[in-house]
This record gives sequence, C-alpha cells and structure tokens, in this order.
Amino acid sequence: MKKGMFIVVDGIDGSGKSEIVKMLHNYLFSKHKKYRILTTREPTHGKYGSRIRTMLREEKAPESSSKKLLDLFIKDRQEHLKTAISPFLKNSGENEVNIVICDRYYYSTIAFQSAQGLNTKELISKNISLRKPDIAFILDLEPSAALERITHRKKEKFEQLEFMKKIRSNFLKLPGLLKDNIKIIDSNRSLNEVFESIKKEVDKILVD
Ligand code: TYD
Repeated sequence: MKKGMFIVVDGIDGSGKSEIVKMLHNYLFSKHKKYRILTTREPTHGKYGSRIRTMLREEKAPESSSKKLLDLFIKDRQEHLKTAISPFLKNSGENEVNIVICDRYYYSTIAFQSAQGLNTKELISKNISLRKPDIAFILDLEPSAALERITHRKKEKFEQLEFMKKIRSNFLKLPGLLKDNIKIIDSNRSLNEVFESIKKEVDKILVD
C-alpha cells in the first residue's frame, strides 16, 4: 500500500468540485483507520491567497491583472506546498497513510491564466518544477450548465460564459501538454455517478 498520496480536483467554476472534494474526504476517512487526510484548497487563506481573493472580488473584467495574479498564485502555491502539503506528506507514521486532497492546483493557473492571455508554455514552465500530484481529476462540464449551477450567488471575475469556454478548452488540452497523471471526468452526470468514477481511480492507486 502507498505511504502517501497527493490528489487534486480541478475544473471550471460550477463543475461540482467542492462537493466531490467533500465526498472523497468522507469516503477515504471512513475507508481505513490508517488514513490521515488533509483536505485543502487554492487559493489559500494565507497572505498571498487573501490578496488574490480580494482582487477576484473587486475586479470585473476577466482579462485584467493577469501578470499580478499569476505572480500571486505561484507564491501562494509555493507557500502552500512548503507549509502544509509537503510536511503533511512527509510525516508518515509507521502505520499511517497520509493523503492530501487539494481543491485546485497548477492546472487552474495554466487553464485560467492562459485564458487571460498569458503564454501557456511559460505558465507550464513556472509550475513544472513544483510537486506533482499522484493523480489529478479535471471535472469537465459544458460552461452553460456550470453557470446554471452558480445562479444562487454573485458571479465572480472569471464566471462569464465566453471566458469559461476558453478555460474549459484549456483544461481539456492539459493531458496533451503535461506528463502528469490527469483524468478528465465527465461531470455532466449526477454527483454520485461522477464520484463513482473518481473513487475507482483512487482505489486503484491506493492498493498499488
Ligand atoms: P474560489 O472562489 O476560491 O474558487 P472556487 O470557488 O472554485 O473554490 O476562487 C478561485 C478563483 O481563482 C476561481 O475562479 C479560479 C481562479 N484561479 C486561477 O485563476 N488561477 C489559479 O491558479 C487558481 C488556483 C485559481
């Protein structure tokens, strides 16, 4: 059995990510007493992440502040890895298996900041030396359906149909651009069906 595992769930806004993260957390937590789980997200609530959140709340045009945001997303990720993810994965006790579930990671930077107009290759090179997840799930869904799921709250900076179409197509290109273990998951289904697909993949890795 693997000693540690780093799982990422990513995708466009409204793809059902947060629900899937919760379901995965609950599933793994009850599956085995050996599992210690850190469920976390990016942007974080650290010093860089908080600045990002303020910018996303206050700005309206999806293309604006691309370079500034990129810089902050990378710094936030480095801090997240250094202070939370890596130490957690390292401290495996004799009979423990440490699992990190992260809601968004560098796949978001590549997909969102490319859609903002930055160069995809540069975005990849700025992230490629960072710790690779063992597996990454990209929840895929038509942006119009995703937008319907977020009608109950105020739309944020990136939540506009045309812009989301670009982001989606960037996410779909990732398996061809990166050597990471990426699974594109059809999320135009019930949450339970989506979760079943994810559970199967995670179980496969955990018994390796
Ligand atoms: P947040 O509200 O935390 O996203 P979610 O509600 O999906 O958890 O805000 C994060 C926003 O920032 C979201 O629209 C995705 C975007 N983002 C990037 O543009 N680049 C990145 O590297 C990350 C991590 C997020």
